[in-house]
Amino acid sequence: MRIDKLLSNAGLGSRKDVKKLLKSGAVKVNETVIKSSKEQVEPDADVVTVHGEEVQYREFIYLMMNKPQGVLSATEDKYQETVIDILQPEDQIFEPFPVGRLDKDTEGLLLLTNDGSLAHQLLSPKKHVPKTYFAVIEGKVTEQDTKAFRDGVEFDEGYVTKPGELNILKSGLTSDIELTITEGKFHQVKRMFEAVGKKVVYLKRISMGSLQLDEELELGEYRELTNEEIEELKSGYNPED
Ligand code: URA
Repeated sequence: MRIDKLLSNAGLGSRKDVKKLLKSGAVKVNETVIKSSKEQVEPDADVVTVHGEEVQYREFIYLMMNKPQGVLSATEDKYQETVIDILQPEDQIFEPFPVGRLDKDTEGLLLLTNDGSLAHQLLSPKKHVPKTYFAVIEGKVTEQDTKAFRDGVEFDEGYVTKPGELNILKSGLTSDIELTITEGKFHQVKRMFEAVGKKVVYLKRISMGSLQLDEELELGEYRELTNEEIEELKSGYNPED
């Protein structure tokens, strides 16, 4: 990989900052001063130092965001703000992407990483990774809906959903529910309620696999996953599959 990327990923500043650092002669690769940003290095084999201190290389980043409404789950968009735009530059340097999509008006748990293998595992339809949502529904949600979701409901185009587990927390003029599903079709939760004649008025994802939304995170805030969270998430999925 390029030396400037390695230095940026190690937290030594933006690509522009590390270019200056390189020009100043502070960076050595295996005891040789390197001034070109384009120099290729082998992170596992080469020893890189800055002012004599060894740089620890880090490849992956894992972030948990409490996604706010009004922001797109995309890496870039010409007109609208994306979840990547609201990250700090030192995290953007890792080029993370959102694992799956939440609608613009959906809040809650969004995992951002540059670990393509983990993302692939979590998104693979074969893995049936459970995702739990909290939602407010217009009207009275009933046990009939619970049964319908367990049996699978039909979308307009004829697709029948996999069983979903509906938990009614409050039922009345509006209802509070939790719904766990193992697939991720476009607008899945909203369309499941549409299929039983009801409307989602608020939607928030609270978990994905073993990962739970940290309720300490305000909307728009994010933090790195702990080592335990990363291990637990990875242990559920075999990269060979
Ligand atoms: N289901 C939806 O309808 N929207 C989301 O953002 C996520 C799941």
